[in-house]
Amino acid sequence: MEQIRKAVLPVAGWGTRFLPATKAMPKEMFPIIDKPVIQFIVEELLGAGIENIIFVTGRHKRPIEHHFDISSDLERHLEEAGKDDILENIREVSHMINPIYVRQKQQLGLGHAVLTAEPVVGKEPFIVSLGDIILEKGRRVLSDMISIFNRFGKSVIALFEVDPTETNKYGIADVKEVEEGIYKIESLVEKPNPEDAPSNLAIVGRYIFTPRIFEKLKDTQPGVGGEIQLTDAMRMLLEEEVIYAYRIPGKVYDTGNPLDYLKTVVEYALQRDELRKHLVEFLGEVVSKYSQLIDKS
Ligand code: UTP
Repeated sequence: MEQIRKAVLPVAGWGTRFLPATKAMPKEMFPIIDKPVIQFIVEELLGAGIENIIFVTGRHKRPIEHHFDISSDLERHLEEAGKDDILENIREVSHMINPIYVRQKQQLGLGHAVLTAEPVVGKEPFIVSLGDIILEKGRRVLSDMISIFNRFGKSVIALFEVDPTETNKYGIADVKEVEEGIYKIESLVEKPNPEDAPSNLAIVGRYIFTPRIFEKLKDTQPGVGGEIQLTDAMRMLLEEEVIYAYRIPGKVYDTGNPLDYLKTVVEYALQRDELRKHLVEFLGEVVSKYSQLIDKS
């Protein structure tokens, strides 16, 4: 069976939920304190042994390309300044990654972004990681998904348990459990109301696809706003091939909207020893001040 050697990272979206910040700056470069979102996702891939990373980019996405360059000047400066920790982190990522940049000419949706990478991926199985979803560190999600692919030779998508009252925000899977945490997908439903939802397992931004997904993407008709939806192509793939699913243990951080981005920054800051004490004190003060406003409104 073919090994998984490549990942596609679609990062060409408009980021409208973050305008005007995203007019000239990709949301994937927003910092979680001092590290851009996209670096978390790249580190996760490198941790799973994937070094060939195909970024599907677009206009205003140049900072992502600069970020993964080797910067000899900066490395020399940090060396001279004795800033070894930062130097090590900067070196590790940019020296390990083999970045490939593919341009999505027009933002015609996530499915279209994935299809744009076809000439580079070729006829191999590959990973898709969304550029704004961070997974809790140390959970080995991608490595587990790769193991499932190696066992069954079929596509594997990550699912995440969401609040049953919030199924109408996600693509939801109807599943049959194969073993603890591993499922076969029966069907996929886009944003069902809680009373119609077949489960509370949502599609969450990590996928392994067999190359047949490209044929299905080519057959997918554009939906709302002319966008080609990845879920529609997955539904067609399901008619021909089994798709497995893996339930993500641990937390999922969606950095693509302001509220969840803020929650992510706060939680990551609270995990840092040098920030925790001051931040907890500050949060205590502001929470007591602003919760009075909530009570009044
Ligand atoms: P989102 O649904 O988050 O869309 O895309 P978006 O455009 O980035 O953000 P909003 O909804 O306007 O605020 C999910 C992922 O797919 C990529 C995005 O960059 C993001 O990582 N994407 C989306 C593309 O690469 N191309 C597209 O045409 C659409």
